[in-house]
Order: sequence, then C-alpha cells, then structure tokens
Amino acid sequence: MSAQFQEAPRIRQMLLTDLDAVIAIEREVFLCPWTPGNFCDSINSGYYCYVLEDSVNYISGYGVMTIALDEAHILTLSIAVGSQRKGCGKILLQHFIHVASKHHMRSIFLEVRTSNLDAARLYERLGFRRIGVRKEYYPAMSRREDAVVMELIL
Ligand SMILES: CC(C)(COP(=O)(O)OP(=O)(O)OC[C@H]1O[C@@H](n2cnc3c(N)ncnc32)[C@H](O)[C@@H]1OP(=O)(O)O)[C@@H](O)C(=O)NCCC(=O)NCCS
Repeated sequence: MSAQFQEAPRIRQMLLTDLDAVIAIEREVFLCPWTPGNFCDSINSGYYCYVLEDSVNYISGYGVMTIALDEAHILTLSIAVGSQRKGCGKILLQHFIHVASKHHMRSIFLEVRTSNLDAARLYERLGFRRIGVRKEYYPAMSRREDAVVMELIL
C-alpha cells in the first residue's frame, strides 16, 4: 500500500498556489471544468474552499461551498480519478457538513447531473434528499442535461 493511503488525508483551506493541482483534477473529471479564474474568484470572495491533501502534499480532491443567511450551497466537489472510491469524497463532504453546522446553517443545497449516479449515491448516504429538478441546467455533449437539486437539513 502506498504512503498516500496509510494516513487519513487532511483537509485545509485552498490557496492560490494550489490552483495548478486543482485545475488538473478539474479538467480530468468534468466535461465543463471551472477555469482558474472561477477558483481564484471563489478564494478571493471568501467562499469556503478546501483541498484534501495527503502526507506527501498530494492534492487528491477539493470543494467549494458558499454560506449565505441560513443556507449553504456546495458549488463543486471533486476527487481525482486515481483517488476515487477510497472514502475521500465522503471525508470532504463530511467536512463541508461540519463547517455548515458550525455556522448554524439550516440546510445545505447542491446540484448534481442526473447521470452522475456515483455522486448522488454519496450525497444520499450522508443524508441529502432529492427536492427538485432544474431542467437543462448543465451543458452536455449533445443536448443539455437536467440537474437534480438535493438538500441536507441540518
Ligand atoms: C462523486 C465523487 C466526489 C465521489 O468521491 P469518492 O471519493 O469516489 O467517494 P467515496 O469513496 O467516499 O464513496 C464512493 C464509493 O466508494 C466506496 N468506498 C469507499 N471507501 C472504499 C474503499 N476503501 N474501497 C472500496 N470502495 C470504497 C463507497 O462505499 C462508495 O461506494 P457506493 O457508492 O457503491 O456506496 C467522485 O467520484 C468525483 O469526484 N467524481 C467526479 C466529479 C463529480 O462528479 N463531482 C460531483 C459533482 S456534483
């Protein structure tokens, strides 16, 4: 087993210097990736931006959440392909739930592509429920794809 999986990865705030690693994952996992400017703006706007990092400083995932009034919104959450299905997504999502709870949020919302069954399963395992659909929300290869809106009541 590699050193990468011997210790639980730690979560820390995303820095501008992480953006090369973050963008590499973003481009690996998403059809329509965020740009470096999107992440830069998120950090500079004070959004809750975190990376998952192992003991040799390898970034295996990241996510961005906003908090407004009593609602949090997870804007993006990704795990590098080589680190998926090892519990990293769950660790990161639990961290966002913890942060939102600490800030006394009433709910956390997110959107997920209807075809993204892996992500939806992870969210449901941690208590998110489907509350609606945004029609043709996401760009896709041929036609646009619907988003399932999910909510976790804290
Ligand atoms: C969706 C995503 C965040 C999930 O992250 P992940 O790290 O793979 O998720 P986890 O490992 O925590 O859980 C996923 C599965 O791995 C399983 N798993 C966890 N630890 C495991 C282990 N040690 N060995 C084998 N399987 C394991 C979990 O039981 C779960 O299986 P299930 O879905 O069949 O119940 C990740 O696949 C991803 O980034 N995808 C691309 C980007 C994306 O879709 N982001 C979400 C946008 S809304």
